[in-house]
This record gives sequence, structure tokens and C-alpha cells, in this order.
Amino acid sequence: MRDSRETLTKKAFVTGFPVKHSRSPMIHGYWLKQFGIDGTYSAHPVEPENFLAFLQSLRSGESGYVGGNVTIPHKEAAYRLSDAPDALAEELGAANTLWVEGGRVHATNTDGRGFIANLDQRHPGWDAPAAGTARRAVILGAGGAARAVIQALRDRGFDEVHVVNRTLARAQEMRDRFGERVHAHPMDALREVMDEASLFVNTTSLGMDGEPAPDIDFSPLASGGIVTDIVYVPLVTPILRQAMRQGRPVVDGLGMLLHQAVPGFEIWFGRRPEVDETLRNLIIADM
Ligand code: ATR
Repeated sequence: MRDSRETLTKKAFVTGFPVKHSRSPMIHGYWLKQFGIDGTYSAHPVEPENFLAFLQSLRSGESGYVGGNVTIPHKEAAYRLSDAPDALAEELGAANTLWVEGGRVHATNTDGRGFIANLDQRHPGWDAPAAGTARRAVILGAGGAARAVIQALRDRGFDEVHVVNRTLARAQEMRDRFGERVHAHPMDALREVMDEASLFVNTTSLGMDGEPAPDIDFSPLASGGIVTDIVYVPLVTPILRQAMRQGRPVVDGLGMLLHQAVPGFEIWFGRRPEVDETLRNLIIADM
């Protein structure tokens, strides 16, 4: 006989392979405790060949999970194999948040919302257009992590989202996927496309693989133009450091990780959590 209390406990997961380095259990554990919710959130590694069976166990209720997060390498499969992906996951072709409802696995992607919410919190007014000018953003990189950012900036109403990438074909894929407000450029066009942009986003690991960081002159950006990074280890990336030296306002990427967790927590546990400084410091202390 199962204890009736046990059946009330809501269980959520983060799955990936490997998944032991995920900081999500710490984030959700903090909120569960803060709200005093009878719930758990734990790492559940699943090998790629077992992901389909894992989803089936979610769908059938056998796993006992109400939902969870999905990370590398399962984000594409989570989208493809889910029963009800929303429009965001559909367009990205990737999901990071799942929940079970009526025997169906629902899927969304919260990375873009996390990116926007981080800027809203740490630099209010970041997206206010200067009078009479187009809202222009520059994204360095066109990998998996860049996609959600490009989608989110387009959806936030940016007039021009310029994707600059070493491999031009990948930047062009972003344009093909996200439409006419997205533009693709090779690396040597970087300076030119930064002209009067109000936001520069790094999504690459440039300067962190033992190679020196390339010199980027941020002076073409609009006055007050912000530099942000979605990489958060280290907290101050080589590109953010350069921007700070040039007197630019910067926003680090840790908040994107924290904020992308908010919608999932609300779906599974029914309360909307805050991203506060205590949580941020908890994660920093663990880095
Ligand atoms: P992720 O999913 O984390 O974004 P990814 O798909 O491997 O990882 O993408 C990494 C991004 O960083 C790509 O845009 C990559 O450029 P390419 O598409 O040309 O590979 C970029 N990147 C990584 N190292 C780089 C380097 N040394 N110089 C320029 N761009 C680099």
C-alpha cells in the first residue's frame, strides 16, 4: 500500500545525458522550499536510445512525474516525440520543458523567455527604441543556443536581428527559419552591422578555449547600447570583460538560466516563483 501522502507529492525531473552538472535541481529545490510545496525535482539521466521509452512512461503516468526539463542531447527529440508542442517549440524544433496533461505530453521552450526576463530584470528599459530609430540587435553565433534568442528578439518586436557567424550558412539557416527581420552576415561584417544597434548578444564560447578573445570594438553601438552574453561560466566572459573596459553596460547570462526555469515551475507546482538575489548567489557560490 502506498502512503496517501506520497501520492500527493508532485515530482518533476531534469533529464539529459549526462545531467549531473545541471543546476536546475538547485534552482527548483530553492523555490520548493521557499513556497513549502510538497514536491521534488531531481536529475534523471536518460541515454538517447532510452528517451522514447522515458517519454512513454511520462505519458502513461507510470513514471509518476508531472513534468520536467530536458537538456542536451534530448531537446530536439523532446519536441519531435511530444504530443502537443506549442508554437515556440514548433518553430525552434526543440523543447526544454514538458508536462503531462490528460495522457498527453505537452512541450514548450522557455529559453527565449528566460533571455528576455533577465534583461527586463537587470536592465529595465533595455528594449525601448530611441526616438525615430529602428530597434536593432546583433547576435554573435548561430548555434543551438542562439536560436531561442533570435526568436525572442523578433517576437519582442525588434525591427532588425542581425546574426553574425563564422559559418555563414548557419546564420542563413536562422534567417530562413525566423523570417525577414533576421539577417545573416559573415564575421567580417561585424563592425558594420553593430552600427546604432542597441543590443549585442554573444552566444559563442569565443575567448574561452585557450585562444585569446578577439578584439571587438563596441563603439559603433548606439549610445547606451548593452552587451550581454548567454554563456554564464565564467560569469564575466571575455567578451563581457572587453565591453566593460569600453564602458558599456553589460548583463551576464546567469539570469537567463534562472528565468528559463520559471514557467516550468509554475506549470508543475502552481506557483510563480521570483528570481531573487539569494538564488543568484546560491548558484554563484556553487560555480
Ligand atoms: P551551442 O548549441 O552551445 O550554441 P554550437 O551549436 O556548437 O553550440 O554553436 C556554437 C557557436 O559558436 C556557433 O555559432 C559557432 O560558429 P560556427 O557555426 O561557425 O561553428 C560559434 N563559435 C564557436 N567557436 C568559435 C570560434 N573560435 N570562432 C568563431 N565562432 C565560434
